[in-house]
Amino acid sequence: MFNLEIIQLSSTYLQSSQMAVLRLGFVLTAVLFTTSLTNSEQDLPCRARNLGIEGRSIVCVCDANYCDTITREDPSRGTYVVYTSSDSGKRFEKSFGQIQTVALNDPESTKADKEPTPKEMLEKSDFDGQENTTIWNSVRLRLFTNTRYQTIEGFGGSVTDAAAINWRKLSDAAQTQFINTYFGPKGLEYNMIRVPIAGADFSTHPYTYNELPWNDGALTNYSLSDEDLFLKLPMIRRSLHAANHEVKITASCWSPPIWMKTNERITGFGQVKREFYQSYADYHLRFIEEYAKANVKIWAITTTNEPINGIVPAAPFNSLGWMPSQMATWIANNLGPTIRNSPFNDTLILAVDDQRYLLHFYVIGMERAEPKAFDYIDGIAIHYYGNFAPAQLLTNIQNRYPDKILLSTEACEGAMPWDAMRVEIGSWRRARNYITSILQDLNNFVVGWIDWNLCLSPTGGPNWADNFVDSPILVYAEDDEFIKNPMFYAMGHFSKFIPRGSVRILASRRSIMTIENLAVLTPQGNMVVVLHNRNNRDMNVRLDIGTTRYIQLVLEPHSVKTIEINHN
Ligand SMILES: *[C@@H]1O[C@H](CO)[C@@H](O)[C@H](O)[C@H]1NC(C)=O
Ligand SMILES: *[C@@H]1O[C@H](CO)[C@@H](O)[C@H](O)[C@H]1NC(C)=O
Ligand SMILES: *[C@@H]1O[C@H](CO)[C@@H](O)[C@H](O)[C@H]1NC(C)=O
Repeated sequence: MFNLEIIQLSSTYLQSSQMAVLRLGFVLTAVLFTTSLTNSEQDLPCRARNLGIEGRSIVCVCDANYCDTITREDPSRGTYVVYTSSDSGKRFEKSFGQIQTVALNDPESTKADKEPTPKEMLEKSDFDGQENTTIWNSVRLRLFTNTRYQTIEGFGGSVTDAAAINWRKLSDAAQTQFINTYFGPKGLEYNMIRVPIAGADFSTHPYTYNELPWNDGALTNYSLSDEDLFLKLPMIRRSLHAANHEVKITASCWSPPIWMKTNERITGFGQVKREFYQSYADYHLRFIEEYAKANVKIWAITTTNEPINGIVPAAPFNSLGWMPSQMATWIANNLGPTIRNSPFNDTLILAVDDQRYLLHFYVIGMERAEPKAFDYIDGIAIHYYGNFAPAQLLTNIQNRYPDKILLSTEACEGAMPWDAMRVEIGSWRRARNYITSILQDLNNFVVGWIDWNLCLSPTGGPNWADNFVDSPILVYAEDDEFIKNPMFYAMGHFSKFIPRGSVRILASRRSIMTIENLAVLTPQGNMVVVLHNRNNRDMNVRLDIGTTRYIQLVLEPHSVKTIEINHN
């Protein structure tokens, strides 16, 4: 098998190189004398730009003619592929290896699959052939394919007005590079999108549908905005077209027309007037209908973006408040029946759509007030900001409602009051925050993770309420280029290698030390493991596969690895 790969690699190389004879020798030598390959040649490497700012990593620059690509390699039986990104500048660097087999006299091979005692863990020095291996830099995890948890829906980002405005400023060719790098088969293969229903703060001005006539409860003047027709829908259509897989779209409303609201303002303390509960439900159905007419299927709706913002009005942008009891009443009597009795009855309804620390308040409050709401709810949507509450809360919610999904619907860096910088170009720290949060969420039953703006301007806008934030891609329109921050690659370490339908499996810790990790089984039957080293030192990781086979890896400081293993 390995020899065959050498021949294939060499012949591809021959065809593609003008200096084949000279360089073939080098390639063959490299292949024969190392077991790991880097920069697999069909991929275009990151065109790195060093920002020269202390403490920042590199960014990858794309334009009309160039953008780095990443192809997922299919590991053959008994082998694995590793993709590494790091603060030091690696971006999806590939290496290959073979699963090792434990020697027959190794006591491990006969040991039952049980947690080792702390004493056993201290005695172990399992890491072969590594100098300076101590229990403090060694991690051992055992993968159990038969202990299975939630099924993954996917990963993606949001088509806001701001994202589409920035994207449209690029030339046609650069726009295509942009879409492909997120959604294409040589990009991150995103398969989820979130879209605001009318305006959000990431718009040039606040707006809603059916603003006039006043008190038009029947929504006789409902029509999409220019932003839908010329910005968001074109960007969504291009994304769907570039993707090889179904892209599932979640839609959320920030604020309805202000005549529906108690405060008759776009922001501040305001809820839906009781007489317009049904109109607000219809407002959602009309959106699904209009997008369907534009050939864009809405997979899920949330029950209003961040409902706390209209109760505790700290946010300076489009909002609508719901107390848990009001939300439950509206879902049970209006939104639920409206969607379920419509031709779009298969649209998922995701409640809450707010921060982790508010989950308990909303979910338990809704259940107390109107348990019938849960007959209509398919899942709970959660946001990222200030994840103060422990992620274990998500597992608690899952245990209470085992038939509901948990979906992470919004995340960005630079949004908190204490963030000194809205945009921190080249920040590995921000990538690290993404990775940690995704790992926590997925290890606590979240089925998918949707990033906020797909791209923004270099200052993190436009945003009519001056609520600027960071994004994985920043667009430099005057140079017709865009740069990919480390956060882009953080997303890709999940979206690219964990296809829809993957199932999380148990990765059980068998060492004193550990690092953040996640293990899934893909529909194809491979194991995919994500390992995140937040430490300042190398970490040695051994992954046990069953009782007789294992893989050993070294994780450099501040790095993330995704490993796809064909253990069959
Ligand atoms: C092991 O540690 C010693 C002392 O800290 C150091 O000099 C040496 O370079 C290390 N070796 C490796 C392979 O890291
Ligand atoms: C319908 O909405 C448009 C704006 O979208 C507005 O110009 C027009 O006046 C509205 N029609 C009525 C009858 O209010
Ligand atoms: C959902 O709507 C479709 C048509 O739009 C209909 O054929 C189907 O029977 C409906 N399902 C339920 C459960 O009402």
